[in-house]
Amino acid sequence: MHFKQWFSTAFFHLNIFALQQIIKYNIRMNNINLYSDFIYTRKVDLDLEELRTTSHFMYQFIKDNFQENKDDFDGQKTVTELLYNKYNLLLYPLPGLHKLYSAIKETFHSCIQHKYIEEPYQDYYIQCWLNLYNKGQFIDWHTHGTKDFDSWHGFYCLDVEPNSSTTYRVNDLQLEVKSENNLIVLSKSGEDLHRSSEWHEENRPRITIAFDIVPAIKLMESGNYQNLNHWIPI
Ligand SMILES: [Fe+2]
Repeated sequence: MHFKQWFSTAFFHLNIFALQQIIKYNIRMNNINLYSDFIYTRKVDLDLEELRTTSHFMYQFIKDNFQENKDDFDGQKTVTELLYNKYNLLLYPLPGLHKLYSAIKETFHSCIQHKYIEEPYQDYYIQCWLNLYNKGQFIDWHTHGTKDFDSWHGFYCLDVEPNSSTTYRVNDLQLEVKSENNLIVLSKSGEDLHRSSEWHEENRPRITIAFDIVPAIKLMESGNYQNLNHWIPI
């Protein structure tokens, strides 16, 4: 083959390779939005009805099995959220939860790849709990973990419409993320405060499924070994 012909063929293949890399990156970031360089959101397509049925079943199951004090809530917390360290929702083999786990995993790793040029940790673990808000309930300003814990926090919106949101305060900035069914919201923990809006619907609860994702090494460094099998790899 003539050198010029060889060169143009090689150049063509190099360009195809570059294009494939760009397409791959776009697919990985598909449907993911980033707000104020802090909050990632991704619309997913999970079976809402299936997950709603599972959540109602689990709400009763958690109350029956893990709630020691029946008055265990103060109007600003949901019962199942208060008991978050007693169970890991993703460990229950109920309809919809396996697909939810996959969706969270895919979203989280896309965000990590976007956030860091080189991933700082190899292994991450997740804890996951149910938030079921009845009329008048909300979760007041709080944060998850500390900055040096390098953890992430997020939630999946299951039944949150027509009118609810989560407000974040990050570095003097206030940002309201409107809740939409089938939306995953994810951000790095320890740099923000956030609160959920009060739920006003009479006939049905607001349902979200929340989670923390922490590097394995940080869990080990925490020294809290009693509860380690509450966390699962992701
Ligand atoms: Fe939270």
